[in-house]
Amino acid sequence: MAGKFITFEGIDGAGKSTHIAWLLAFLRSAGHPVVATREPGGTPLGEKLRELLLSEPMHLETEALLMFAARREHLDKLIRPALARGEWVVSDRFSDATYAYQGGGRGLSRDKLLALEEWVHGGFQPDLTLVFDLDPAIAAQRLAGTGNAPDRFEREPAEFFAAVRAAYLERAALDPGRVRLIDAGRAPEEVRVQLERIVADL
Ligand code: TYD
Repeated sequence: MAGKFITFEGIDGAGKSTHIAWLLAFLRSAGHPVVATREPGGTPLGEKLRELLLSEPMHLETEALLMFAARREHLDKLIRPALARGEWVVSDRFSDATYAYQGGGRGLSRDKLLALEEWVHGGFQPDLTLVFDLDPAIAAQRLAGTGNAPDRFEREPAEFFAAVRAAYLERAALDPGRVRLIDAGRAPEEVRVQLERIVADL
């Protein structure tokens, strides 16, 4: 049976990580070979680019280009080969994050994003994208509660995350078959039920 490509999205602090771990265990217990990965990152070069992206101030377009450069490598070295072997790939973020953060959050034009997307993975999309939707004020509280030092994105103000969230909602409205919203404001068990239902459809 062919593998599927599933991506997790949402603003920082929406709580993707816990649920990614649950989905991986769920898929493995169902007997599927699964590869877990993340963006930016997922390859040795991609992880180096991640370090720069999360720490170095840079021009908005440099940021978008590096996100897609890391993605190009990720698709070639990890995502496509795993899918070709029939494995499932679960990625913590993919191109919807660039639309949301560099497009919605920073204001990069849709035309430029479309051109980059077409260049790097024209026609290819995840089979399923789960957007963890949460009020930015609650997400900020959750992030503060972790005690971890915030990275360059996590230091952005509430208005930035409101714009990122709006862009994710727009992605879901544009492609409701692929992009599914999860109400991340609910208790973890209820979030898991939403997730289980959506994954069962797949
Ligand atoms: P994140 O996935 O939240 O990892 P962690 O849970 O370890 O903090 O961090 C990645 C950051 O990169 C996140 O703030 C969103 C940002 N990002 C973009 O701005 N554009 C992109 O295309 C991607 C993939 C991520």
